Amino acid sequence: MMVKPVTTIKTVVDTIEEGGADIKVFSLVDPDYWELPPFRPGAHIDLHLPGGPVRTYSLCNDPADNKRYLVAVKRERDGRGGSVKLHDEIRVEDTIGVSLPRGGLRLDGDLTHHVFVAGGIGVTPFLSAAAFLRHNSHPNFTLHLMARGEPPLRSLLAPFVKTGNVVIHDTARSGRPDIGSLVGLPTPGLAVGCCGPESMLDDFERATRDWPRERVHIERFVPPALTVDPNVKPYTLALSRSKLETRVERGQTMLAALVSLGIDVPASCCGGICGSCKVDWLEGTPVHRDRVLSPTERERSLMVCVAGSAEERLVLDL
Ligand code: FES
Repeated sequence: MMVKPVTTIKTVVDTIEEGGADIKVFSLVDPDYWELPPFRPGAHIDLHLPGGPVRTYSLCNDPADNKRYLVAVKRERDGRGGSVKLHDEIRVEDTIGVSLPRGGLRLDGDLTHHVFVAGGIGVTPFLSAAAFLRHNSHPNFTLHLMARGEPPLRSLLAPFVKTGNVVIHDTARSGRPDIGSLVGLPTPGLAVGCCGPESMLDDFERATRDWPRERVHIERFVPPALTVDPNVKPYTLALSRSKLETRVERGQTMLAALVSLGIDVPASCCGGICGSCKVDWLEGTPVHRDRVLSPTERERSLMVCVAGSAEERLVLDL
């Protein structure tokens, strides 16, 4: 049985700080304080927690600050247990394996102005974006943060509140503002992004339906429910490099089929939103059901946690 090892970087918890609103902020560093692999604003990393769970978090610090990875974790009482483990069991000096950073926002090129819309802990990807824009002398951005009562991560937000780049909307007092009026029209040079609860993302998607896709960024932290299509047929999954193949039965995921072959693919959300299980495909016709790959990326890659096959045989580059 062949096992492809998952690559992780060894980090050590340097500090843990309270972020308000049931959030803890973890600073992860190299054990010898060497530089860490670089990341783009709004990028994510997977944390490989003791005991096996893998959880994905946005990096909150300035990408120019390459000596640490800063992640903010909200305690999710009804979640899968990863955030509770981080809050209750992880201490300063503990070791945590992390993935290479991936994903992120496009903030350069012909873009001159940015509007970010965030709900609660959904502010995290825009903190590193705000730091990047300030660091690179592009102060032309507005971050609308909606929170019920106390806003999260006050100390991380403070520099941008001071410069007038952050507008805090207390939804307990005034309800949620109209997202369409916050983002405005797709004028040249304007890019917009949103991260928050599903209802906020739905409003944002409606408000930006007619925008050029490359100027709209949507970040999800809860995978949409996946339904089993009754018309889906079993198919053969072949792996070109390891020369293995298996049947993927109706209702089975490609990820589960790979695990049954002893192939270890990193996976976190298992719902097509985090980007950790990306694999290249070579032959066949994948059915893409993820929310992370662009049309161009789909010509080459798929997310094995949710993708299927439209043909009897699909070949992966594994
Ligand atoms: S595990 Fe998150 S996209 Fe597949």
